[in-house]
Amino acid sequence: MSNSANHNSSVVVAAGPAAFSRNAGDTPAATGPIRHLYVHIPFCARICPYCAFYKDLLDRSQTARFCEAILRDLDKQCAAFAISAKTIYFGGGTPTALTTSQLEFLLGGFHQRLDLSTLEEWTIEANPGSVSARKAALLRKLKVNRISLGVQSWDDRLLTILGREHNASQAEKSFHTLRDAGFRNINIDIMFGLPDQSTEQWKATLEKTITLQPEHISAYCLTYEEDTEFFLRQSRGELKPNPDCDAGLFEMTMSILEAAGYQQYEISNYARPGFSSVHNRACWSGKDYLGIGPSAFSTVGMRRSFQAITNWLDRKSH
Ligand SMILES: C[S@@+](CC[C@H](N)C(=O)[O-])C[C@H]1O[C@@H](n2cnc3c(N)ncnc32)[C@H](O)[C@@H]1O
Ligand code: SF4
Repeated sequence: MSNSANHNSSVVVAAGPAAFSRNAGDTPAATGPIRHLYVHIPFCARICPYCAFYKDLLDRSQTARFCEAILRDLDKQCAAFAISAKTIYFGGGTPTALTTSQLEFLLGGFHQRLDLSTLEEWTIEANPGSVSARKAALLRKLKVNRISLGVQSWDDRLLTILGREHNASQAEKSFHTLRDAGFRNINIDIMFGLPDQSTEQWKATLEKTITLQPEHISAYCLTYEEDTEFFLRQSRGELKPNPDCDAGLFEMTMSILEAAGYQQYEISNYARPGFSSVHNRACWSGKDYLGIGPSAFSTVGMRRSFQAITNWLDRKSH
C-alpha cells in the first residue's frame, strides 16, 4: 500500500479536470524540486471483494492508451514543476498487470523525461499472478529496485475467501523469481483479521513470511471498506469483524516481527535495518509529492489535490 493518501476510490470520477490548473498563476508553489512521484495503475486481473482502491478490471484494449495518457500527464507535470526524483512509486491496482512491452514503454518514457541520476528508490507493486522472469528482468533493467508483492496469505483457503487470483505456491514462486532477477529489496504484504482466520493461522503466516527473509513486511488489519462486497456482507451479518481479536493479532505481529529483526516504523510497516520505504516515509512526513494517474493525490506547497486523467476512461470517444 503506497500510502493511505492514494487509498479510496469513492470520489473518483470517470473523467475530470486535472488536479492542478496549468495556468502559471495557479500552479501551487513547491518548496524546491519535486523529489517524490506516485503513479497509479488501476488495472487488476480480478477484483478482490474487500478492496476500495481505485481499480478497473484489466482490459487489454485500454492499457496501451492508458500508458500513453500517463506519459502525456508526466509531460504536463514536467512543464509545471521542476522534478528531480528521489523516489518513484508505481501503485495500484496492479502495475504488473501491464504487459512486459507496456511496462517497457511506460518506464522507458519516465527515463526519457526525467533526470533519474539522483533516484534512490523505485518501487512497483506486484501481484503474484502477474510476475514472470521476463517482466522481473525488464524491471531490473529499467532501474526498479524495490518490489511490493501482494501475498496477503499463505493459506489457499483464505486466498479463495479473499478472491485472489493466485495460490500460496504461486506467491512463493513469484518471490523467488524476483530474487533470482536480482531484487534485493522486496516487501511482502500480508493481512490479518480475515474471516475465519485463527490466531494459529496468522502466526503461521508470519512465520512463513519470515522464512523467506524479505527486507520489508507490511501487515495490514483487514478493513471493511464502504462500497465493497465485504462491507455489504458485514452489514448483512454474514461476516463479523472482531476488533478485540484483531488487537491481539496486532500485538502478536509486533512481537514476532520484532523478534525476527524487523523494526516497526509505522503502524503496519516493518523493515530490516536500512530498508524502510524512503517513498512512504517522505509522504508520511509531509514532503511534496506528485501523483500521476486516476485517483492519485498530490501534495505540493501545502496544497493537497486529487488527480484524474482527462479522457482516458472516455472509452467511446476513441
Ligand atoms: C492496493 S493493494 C495493491 C497491491 C496489489 N494489487 C495486491 O492486491 O496485491 C495494496 C495492499 O493493500 C492491502 N489492502 C487492500 N485492501 C485492504 C483492506 N480492505 N484492508 C486492509 N488492507 C488492504 C493489501 O495487503 C494489498 O496488498
Ligand atoms: S488486486 Fe489489489 S488493487 Fe486489485 S482489487 Fe485486489 S487488492 Fe485491490
